[in-house]
Amino acid sequence: MQQLNQATASPHAAARPKASDFIIRPVGPVMGAEVIGLDASQPLSQDMFKRIEDAFLEYKLLCFRDQEFTLDTLVSFTENWGPLLEHTMPGQLRDGITAINIATNATADGKPSGKHPDVTAMRWHTDRSWRARPAMATLLYGVQVPSVGGDTLFANGTLAYDSLPEDKKRLIDPLNAIHSVDYSRKTGYGGPAATEYELREHPPVPHPLARKHPATGRRSIYCGCHAWKIEGWSKANGRKLLDEMMDWVKQDRFVYRHKWRKHDLVIWDNRCLFHAATPYDTTKEIRTMWRTVVEGGPTH
Ligand SMILES: [Fe+2]
Repeated sequence: MQQLNQATASPHAAARPKASDFIIRPVGPVMGAEVIGLDASQPLSQDMFKRIEDAFLEYKLLCFRDQEFTLDTLVSFTENWGPLLEHTMPGQLRDGITAINIATNATADGKPSGKHPDVTAMRWHTDRSWRARPAMATLLYGVQVPSVGGDTLFANGTLAYDSLPEDKKRLIDPLNAIHSVDYSRKTGYGGPAATEYELREHPPVPHPLARKHPATGRRSIYCGCHAWKIEGWSKANGRKLLDEMMDWVKQDRFVYRHKWRKHDLVIWDNRCLFHAATPYDTTKEIRTMWRTVVEGGPTH
């Protein structure tokens, strides 16, 4: 499993170079690059954003170090990528703000609550794949991170697809998986059920199991915990294939583990990556993350 070499990370933001001098440095062979020396809370020129966007397509995941965001500047930065999706999951909204999801285990008086704010996120998934227009990208900002645990795992669906035997590629290329928010929440480690709004607005929807990336044209395995069944197959056979695909994707050779540093902003491409949260001691340490989600296009 790829992990970031902590020794190579930037020390801190004190001697931040000019924005035009920022560095993009790959963190390993599986995916990901660090962006160092860029203040992403400030407006970006077209040239700067083009450079970042190109790196995003190449590396699939970017980590901007040492950022100082407010809720407003995080929304502004996110808007560079496309329209924001509202957060609809019960229990994750604060003060009626729907553009940013604040996930924290801190109580109102700042103590560890002992509860993980989103146990469903510990399953491998790609964000909002239960929508006809799933999330293109997700941005996660580490406001406060635990000293141990709370890492995020990312799996590269493109590498996983490319590594499949040819007969398996031929099998999955024409298939659609049906994704369902109802199915996902009912199997979600005791997390909240889908809301009436979600069920009404987002009925089960088919997406290609070997999804073509709209920008690169490369196929990725695309399923995860929101994938309910395979279109036209029996439920049992569909479940078997979906489980087989996820077992394949989760292999260490396709996985990058992000160990969070305070004030990291990570953006990842949901069109070709899977992710899963990992546990930490919710009774002793605080983990507070701000999250925004960018809407993508249809998958067909
Ligand atoms: Fe997620």
